[in-house]
Amino acid sequence: PLVSMNEFLPKAKANKFAVGQFNMNNLEFAQAITDAAIEEKSPFIFGVSEGALKYMGIEYTVAIAEAAAKKSGLPIALHLDHGSNFDIAMKCIRAGFSSVMFDGSHHPYEENIKLTKEIVKAAHAMGVSVEGELGTIGGVEDDLSVDEASAQLAKPEEAIRFYEETGVDALAIAVGTAHGMYKGEVKIHYDIIEAVVAKIPVPIVLHGGSGVPDDMIRKAIQAGAGKINVNTENQVACTAQIREVLAKDANVIDPRKYLTPARAAMKQVVQEKIRLFGSSNQA
Ligand code: G3H
Ligand code: ZN
Repeated sequence: PLVSMNEFLPKAKANKFAVGQFNMNNLEFAQAITDAAIEEKSPFIFGVSEGALKYMGIEYTVAIAEAAAKKSGLPIALHLDHGSNFDIAMKCIRAGFSSVMFDGSHHPYEENIKLTKEIVKAAHAMGVSVEGELGTIGGVEDDLSVDEASAQLAKPEEAIRFYEETGVDALAIAVGTAHGMYKGEVKIHYDIIEAVVAKIPVPIVLHGGSGVPDDMIRKAIQAGAGKINVNTENQVACTAQIREVLAKDANVIDPRKYLTPARAAMKQVVQEKIRLFGSSNQA
């Protein structure tokens, strides 16, 4: 069965590794992620954005995640990514999600606390874990777009109080990473992660994990990032393979001809991330 993030995040925080959230965009993503995790014996999180949910349909999404859990025997959380309101979170929980993120970062601070708290209360009553977000993460994801310059870093004191008041199970804070492909150089404010993590019992979530150099990821984990989200690198790997196959042969009509290499490329991306995050053999 699908599990809440509390099945593995406390251990990740205590032993300084991170569990990957790999976004599911279709069946091939789900298969690639699951096969990589099986080989690595790693727990993982399927992230599903509202856009991906609309694309796949909620019934297919839950059924695919449940099939992955059954096939792998691994602790897998099915997690709403960047949920925008209470109703979508409840809809996902009722459908079988084991975890939800409420992204209230676009609301004023106090309002974000109030809205997050309501979701935590309802979700925890059903054994579902919750991730909250503070500060604004730059870049583009689905319909969310924040230009990198106006992205606001999280303030440690605000993040600590946000945790104390909401009781979230994981806390995403803006520390310099951005969604999508990086335009400029990445700069992670490790000091912000350290300052917050020292005062709260749950791990920090690093969004925008694609394109971040390996040594920066390692440092972020040492600082206290216990969940790292990756989507764009898989999308890039998938599409590059499809492009290559189609460019080589204009007569291809069987989707399996290009989806098979696309899936293999994503599996490799995920396997490398799992090793980098240190979650191998932690299932
Ligand atoms: O919430 C999802 C992630 O933060 C993904 O970011 O597409 O830059 O890897 P990414
Ligand atoms: Zn994100």
